[in-house]
Amino acid sequence: MAFLFNSDAARGAVFREVFARELPDLEFFHCSEEVDSEKVRYLITWTVPDDISRYRNLEVLFSIGAGVDQFNADIVPGHVKLVRMVEDGIIRMMQEYVALGVLALHRDLPAYLDQQRRRVWKGIPARQADGCRVGLLGLGMLAQAAIERLKPFGFPVAGWSRSQKRIDGVTSFHGQDQLDGFLRQTDILVCLLPLTDGTRGILNARLFGSLPRGARLLHVGRGPQLDQAALIAALDSGQLAAAMLDVTDPEPLPDDHPLWSHPKVMITPHIASVTQPHTAAQSVVVNIRRHRAGKELIGVVDRTLGY
Ligand code: NDP
Ligand code: OXD
Repeated sequence: MAFLFNSDAARGAVFREVFARELPDLEFFHCSEEVDSEKVRYLITWTVPDDISRYRNLEVLFSIGAGVDQFNADIVPGHVKLVRMVEDGIIRMMQEYVALGVLALHRDLPAYLDQQRRRVWKGIPARQADGCRVGLLGLGMLAQAAIERLKPFGFPVAGWSRSQKRIDGVTSFHGQDQLDGFLRQTDILVCLLPLTDGTRGILNARLFGSLPRGARLLHVGRGPQLDQAALIAALDSGQLAAAMLDVTDPEPLPDDHPLWSHPKVMITPHIASVTQPHTAAQSVVVNIRRHRAGKELIGVVDRTLGY
């Protein structure tokens, strides 16, 4: 019985060490090594290998990231469980990044960076946190963790999800019917949605038009959720005051893309949150133990919903 690690060698070495200690009876292979495909019961990867069908005894396919939109799940046999990454490192980094982004947008960092480039020394009147409503699109694992970091600053926090949620200290909205109501009361919009047919292109002109004038956008979901031309139009018209993007489409943007140099935009190269090998290996070990014990796995993807 074997576990196959199909990603970079550095993280693979950490997984190998943790697996040798925690699951000594499970053979461990890095994708650079020769493996008898019949032995592979567990495979971790970022994208589904084209030759997935050769692993005829595969039982669980783990994503090395929290998102699974890059998985071509159609080529994975239906009986194989798909599991996304749920681990402390990725959660902690997202908490840091969302706090960083919300504070940067709240305290007008894009405008101050633009002023610095133009050698302008001028304060901008600051709104107080209790008057700056933060709204999260998506109320899943990462959004709920991020909210815990935002609460101490005193921002009123709301969120929107597919199904109804009850979260302490959070005004919850759900479903298409409540999207506009959610947007109308959001000054800083944070996108932490998975990419699915239902969320592709969701950050569009209509959505921006439903936000209060001068709202700000922090996009940490996936590039194809954002209509980039609509964002530029909303920024240029003043409907949006600023945006911080960690994800774009494509990644990276072409050299001549206007978002690179837009004075109201800050861009980071998809680094909000990165799977940390020690904690990730531990969480995969826990899931393999659960699988062997016939228990429900943590982070199972619902193939019909796509996340
Ligand atoms: P979860 O699956 O835990 O949560 C997803 C949330 O989105 C849920 O609240 C879900 O609603 C909601 N949702 C999904 N589809 C819809 C829809 N059509 N309408 C309304 N709400 C919807 O995901 P995570 O929190 O773990 O991760 C979210 C995403 O963050 C990932 O899929 C990935 O794309 C992105 N990500 C980005 C990273 C980066 O570095 N930039 C790093 C890691 C992840 P419900 O609760 O009702 O199911
Ligand atoms: C992820 C990511 O999904 O890094 O983990 O975006």
